[in-house]
Amino acid sequence: LVNSNTRFEAAEGKLSGSGVSASLRVVGDLAGIFLDEEARSRRDPREAVYEVVMHDACGAAEGGLFFGVSRVYPGKIGAEYFMTKGHFHSKRNRAEYYWGIAGEGLLLLMDESRQCRAERVSPGSLHFISGYTAHRLVNTGRSMLVVGACWPSDAGHDYDSIQRDGFGLRVLDVDGQPQLVPADG
Ligand code: 6PG
Ligand code: NI
Repeated sequence: LVNSNTRFEAAEGKLSGSGVSASLRVVGDLAGIFLDEEARSRRDPREAVYEVVMHDACGAAEGGLFFGVSRVYPGKIGAEYFMTKGHFHSKRNRAEYYWGIAGEGLLLLMDESRQCRAERVSPGSLHFISGYTAHRLVNTGRSMLVVGACWPSDAGHDYDSIQRDGFGLRVLDVDGQPQLVPADG
């Protein structure tokens, strides 16, 4: 009988111990992601936008799972709320679960024909992300947005198609309220 030396404090979304690693995305990593690229380029490139902490128990082989927590800082670039890069899984049929832990935000979802929708993310919300669906977290609140995730470890990330074409929806602050604005056409 042994204790696992990996800890997940579910209420705060704090993941620690063996197999856990963290990565930070700063303003300087996010060229071409936000609508107002000029506003982004004027910001301190070291400013934190989000971080991902994940537990890798098995590597990326087929049949494995990864478990992680994303924390999106509160903030905006121009009128657009801080958000993740967003991606399709490289293996397109790979699905994922997200769940809200703290803060308020939106999960933007887009299928391969660019049909978009958004789900409200709040503590306790559960989100099933089907395969073939790009996903992006947007922090529309004033505190950290903390979201748990579990996904097949061979899913991979296709960032290029989002970098090239973006999402069909953007989330902008319009008179102090988050508004979904079509990005296409
Ligand atoms: C994944 C998950 C999740 C995601 C982060 C950061 O497939 O790995 O969806 O951990 O990576 O929320 O978002 P980006 O990967 O789009 O930067
Ligand atoms: Ni994913």
